[in-house]
Amino acid sequence: MSVIKKDRKTIIGILGGGQLARMSAFQAIRMGFEVAILEKEKDSPAGSLTKNEFVGWLNDEEVLNRFIEASDIITLENEFIDSSFLKKIEEQGKKVIPSSKTISLIQDKLIQKTTLKKAGVPVPNFLQINSDTSFENVKNILGKKFLLKSRKMGYDGYGNATIKNKNDYQNALEKLSSRHAELYAEEFVNFRKELAIMVVRTKKEIKCYPVVETIQKNHICHLVIAPAQIEKRLSKLAEEIAIHSVEAVKGFGIFGIEMFLDEQDKISVNEMAPRPHNSGHYSIEGCITSQFENHIRATLGLPLGSTKMVKPYAVMINLLGKRNDIGILQNYDEILSDDNINLHIYGKKNSRIGRKMGHITIIGENLKSLIKIARSKEKKIIL
Ligand SMILES: Nc1ncnc2c1ncn2[C@@H]1O[C@H](COP(=O)(O)OP(=O)(O)O)[C@@H](O)[C@H]1O
Ligand SMILES: [Mg+2]
Repeated sequence: MSVIKKDRKTIIGILGGGQLARMSAFQAIRMGFEVAILEKEKDSPAGSLTKNEFVGWLNDEEVLNRFIEASDIITLENEFIDSSFLKKIEEQGKKVIPSSKTISLIQDKLIQKTTLKKAGVPVPNFLQINSDTSFENVKNILGKKFLLKSRKMGYDGYGNATIKNKNDYQNALEKLSSRHAELYAEEFVNFRKELAIMVVRTKKEIKCYPVVETIQKNHICHLVIAPAQIEKRLSKLAEEIAIHSVEAVKGFGIFGIEMFLDEQDKISVNEMAPRPHNSGHYSIEGCITSQFENHIRATLGLPLGSTKMVKPYAVMINLLGKRNDIGILQNYDEILSDDNINLHIYGKKNSRIGRKMGHITIIGENLKSLIKIARSKEKKIIL
């Protein structure tokens, strides 16, 4: 049965009120729907857009129940919500997309990697870390350079450490365990490029966005180039791997799949996210249907829109906070003084050095010049 209401606006509940929820909400509202937002603090980037703003979190049963009650269907903007909470929501008769089952296969990176590997998806070598696993144990299996990663709650590089010796290992064990106790180790991939693809799937359709190249700075996504400048054969392979990954977790909804392309042209999956993804922001202006619109469409089980690009190239650059101050852009005139700039500011109350505060997208015919403009604008941002 369709969740779309005929006698009032359909309300899509989003767990989380950050920038991803905000950009999905814009699209929901544009298409005549409403959103309900659950976030810990009032006036979040997405919460501030709707009268259905619920302030609290999953452990606050009263608020959670009101949020569930207000929503016709529920989706999420991050994978950090324990899947057992989602299961409870499903047991109350409310549909969650992606399902609690899918989230349970993704939110623990060790379970995610194990699931993908079992399904035949190429992943880097990895190893569970127990309290008695020594540096030598890991080194013997993964080689002398590897990463320690938190199994849960990692984002923007928080939760990762590169290990080259016993000292690094001991320090990282202490540091990472203080954030989240359970860890795993992963072989260091000497990648030539990092790639990403968005995949959107309903019971009736599955569509891929173009393969993009992502360039991280300090483990945070910095620049995205769409489409990735790689051979057609490799794009095709990346697409197949991405679809295979989504099927492996029985995923419906929208997914971002991060991949490594190594010197031997081997592609392996780094991680997948069950939601819109930073690497897909370019699609707002770059594609016929953005990842956020298709997120809403897939959540509601509606026909998916075209994922084709509208111009040959799109370049997206993240605007990371440059100061610890109010989250208001200080120089709109300077940033907008180019007729090809698409500016997105997330409306976060406070800026913090390195915090994702917004992004810029430029689309056009000349990739080199798009990258040049994007970089020079980013440098000028005061935020
Ligand atoms: N096995 C690896 N080998 C080499 N670099 C890696 C590896 N895993 C992660 N990285 C680097 O760290 C970045 C962030 O790691 P990732 O596992 O994606 O964590 P997060 O959840 O923080 O995005 C990656 O985009 C990549 O640049
Ligand atoms: Mg990542």
